[in-house]
Amino acid sequence: MALLEVRDLRVGYGAIPVLQGIDFDVEEGKTTVLLGLNGAGKTTTVATIAGLLKPTAGSITFDGNRIDGKDTAMLVEVGLTLVPEGRRVFPALTVEQNLRLGTWTKRKRKAEIAATQERVFEYFPILAERRLQLAGTLSGGQQQMLAIGRGLMSLPRLMLIDEASLGLSPALAKTVFQIVDRINEDGTTVIIVEQNVGVLRHADAALVMEKGEIVYQGSGDELRRGDELRTTYLGGSA
Ligand SMILES: Nc1ncnc2c1ncn2[C@@H]1O[C@H](COP(=O)(O)OP(=O)(O)O)[C@@H](O)[C@H]1O
Ligand SMILES: [Mg+2]
Repeated sequence: MALLEVRDLRVGYGAIPVLQGIDFDVEEGKTTVLLGLNGAGKTTTVATIAGLLKPTAGSITFDGNRIDGKDTAMLVEVGLTLVPEGRRVFPALTVEQNLRLGTWTKRKRKAEIAATQERVFEYFPILAERRLQLAGTLSGGQQQMLAIGRGLMSLPRLMLIDEASLGLSPALAKTVFQIVDRINEDGTTVIIVEQNVGVLRHADAALVMEKGEIVYQGSGDELRRGDELRTTYLGGSA
């Protein structure tokens, strides 16, 4: 059984359908990348898994339990956390306060939270240096690190990261992908939404979306090596 099973998932905005029945599995312990051009439906997919949008049909099963239609707070509690697009941090709060905000549903697990904060500071030493600084004064890349760190503080089993590299320099994007590798090695299953095919080196499995459908499912390596596949599905960039 896969950790996450999506079956015939249909989601829209008002009367406008976006996902028209998608199916995929995410294996526990792996990093799965969800690629596709702007408007393909990637954010709609992860937002629905995280409980921000209600599907009109289909099912989402997490660790054997149906979760479609459940609210976000309950999903965070069972271990499913979304780091949303646009690195939203609270600018008037410090780095440390932002991290603490990630923990409220797990507030009884004090020792694990303290250990996780140390882990976040180890992944992103710059955040440790700036722990008392207001988040609004951080650079874009540092705010993205903070958004990922805050997601980790909710002690997820499955972390969904939407477009972490958007607007970052190639070097910073690489740093973020390397940290995603470490997060995964340290035991968290990851779904990472990207338009940057550089992420494929860091992925076990790949999904490609086009116009609300999954047009490719396979290994990250196969997609990375297959020029033809890449050109067909991703416009040949990188
Ligand atoms: N709030 C919304 N209201 C109406 N349509 C939306 C909304 N958000 C996204 N869409 C439409 O849904 C489609 C998929 O968008 P999205 O999931 O954001 O794609 P991606 O993340 O792959 O860029 C697009 O056609 C987009 O215009
Ligand atoms: Mg998006």
